[in-house]
Amino acid sequence: MQNIETVRNDLLARIAKSDTPRELFKVPELKQLMTAITSLPVEERGAYGKSINELKQALEVAIVAREAELDNATVESIDVTAPWDINGSSLQLFPTENGTQHPLTTELENVIDIFTRMGFEAIESRQIDDDEHMFASLNFHENHPARDGYDTFRTEEGFIPPAHTSTMQNRILKVGKAKLEAGEQIAAISYGRVFRNEDLDPTHEHTFYQCEGVFVSETATLGQMLGTLRSFFETYYGQKLKIKTQPAYFPFVEPGLEFAIEKPAALGGKSGEWLEMLGCGMIHPNVLKAAGIDPVKYRGFAWGGGIERLVMLKYSIEDMRHFKSGKLAFLRKFV
Ligand code: DAH
Repeated sequence: MQNIETVRNDLLARIAKSDTPRELFKVPELKQLMTAITSLPVEERGAYGKSINELKQALEVAIVAREAELDNATVESIDVTAPWDINGSSLQLFPTENGTQHPLTTELENVIDIFTRMGFEAIESRQIDDDEHMFASLNFHENHPARDGYDTFRTEEGFIPPAHTSTMQNRILKVGKAKLEAGEQIAAISYGRVFRNEDLDPTHEHTFYQCEGVFVSETATLGQMLGTLRSFFETYYGQKLKIKTQPAYFPFVEPGLEFAIEKPAALGGKSGEWLEMLGCGMIHPNVLKAAGIDPVKYRGFAWGGGIERLVMLKYSIEDMRHFKSGKLAFLRKFV
């Protein structure tokens, strides 16, 4: 037991200074402590095992804390109050004097540009909305189980920071109704930030970007939708792509699909490696009805997907959290 205490104090001190704290789990002193249990009388083994477990837990806690400390240390700090020209040496953070646009903004502009050239009007998505737009008008009735899948935040007053850009569909359809009546079609995208109460990991963020598309006419077909999406992805990645779909459920479309592309070889993909890019489908009659559009006369398709995912594939970014990390080394790669 005394040995455990000595090893514990020694390792905690070393973890606090180490650049690779997790490696310290491998030190021989620790192995020796663990194997020592076999040489103890049976009645002492229980208490000894418990102490070893406590030791391991304490080390884990210290290692996680040290790792977080190391992680933070790699975020370079910027003194935003510093004068531009200190003793004649200019503070050159970026090659241009004015800094640069965030890569996500640049890529979102690219996406908007491609769709507007295809004839879609681009509308920024709201950052605060209500149950009616986020759910009810999209055919999620009050107790619909699919609501749970959206991990929505709510304000005390019951407002919702939207969890998807589909929150704009009802407005787009209502405004577009006049166009349909004038013999035109509705073709719009809505783009912007969305929010979900999610645990963070390399592919999940609580705040991220989506882009949604809506098209309605008297003759819209699923084939047109697949053609539109294929053109978009081939333009965005600058190459021919294989696409596939599989059935998926979203209350606001019928049929609903998941749309995947084969990971381009130029981006390290192997044949048969599919990446799911977005959800899509033919707009559900109830969604058209909720906007006052006659679902017998008109039909439409819609899709929605994340922007980060597109950009991560394009630039082989392995962790979504880099975008908001504030790490200049990451941002400079896009200058
Ligand atoms: N809103 C869905 C989501 O965030 C994505 C989506 C699926 C949008 C199907 C659509 C659609 O417009 O038709 O998970």
